[in-house]
Amino acid sequence: MQLDVFTLIPHAFAWLTEQRPLAAVLGSELELRLINLRETTPLRAGQVDDEPYGGGAGMLMRVDVVAAALEAVYGGVPAHRVIALTPQGRQLDQALVEELVLERRVTLLSARFEGFDERILEHLASDAVSIGPYVLSGGELPAMVLLDALARRLPGALGHEESGVFESFSPALGGELEHPQYTRPAEFRGWRVPDVLLSGDHGRIDEWRREHRRSQAGR
Ligand code: ADE
Repeated sequence: MQLDVFTLIPHAFAWLTEQRPLAAVLGSELELRLINLRETTPLRAGQVDDEPYGGGAGMLMRVDVVAAALEAVYGGVPAHRVIALTPQGRQLDQALVEELVLERRVTLLSARFEGFDERILEHLASDAVSIGPYVLSGGELPAMVLLDALARRLPGALGHEESGVFESFSPALGGELEHPQYTRPAEFRGWRVPDVLLSGDHGRIDEWRREHRRSQAGR
């Protein structure tokens, strides 16, 4: 998968790219390009934002700036999915991650400031995605959230191939949450791991896990 992120703070992504799962797939299953929107701005002094027409607080990412960046990289508006990160977008969930991971190329647009000029969403982006019903100070964290969620679904991202298949919200679990998990010690301060998990009886263990999948919601 080729993933291009248009951002004003490319260096913000450095930490993430050095960690698993991203580090494990970079250069093989995932080709990541971090593109600085300021480098191709047609405006003077690196300007990328402006005041909203009609007044109001904050600054908006300009449509001509995003168009110029897309033009510089793709020669126009690309045919593949261009996702603007905005609280007004479709809320990200595992189903959307599974849908996007099938794409060969994806572009993410992240804005600082109050958001995008609406024409960016109408004419330059194909999708608008929100990572939740709250407002952050920019699209970098949302872009990183999406990047991480996508990277862990690529082949070779996780040490154990199955760990991505059977985790919470995955189709293999029918979209349910994962069961509770425990590791050593079997008892700590009197807090015991459920006996069934220590029994070695895989039939009973599977049954216990199935029974305990739903009960975690909201915890
Ligand atoms: N930009 C600011 N807040 C956001 C959110 N919740 N989701 C995606 N992009 C955002």
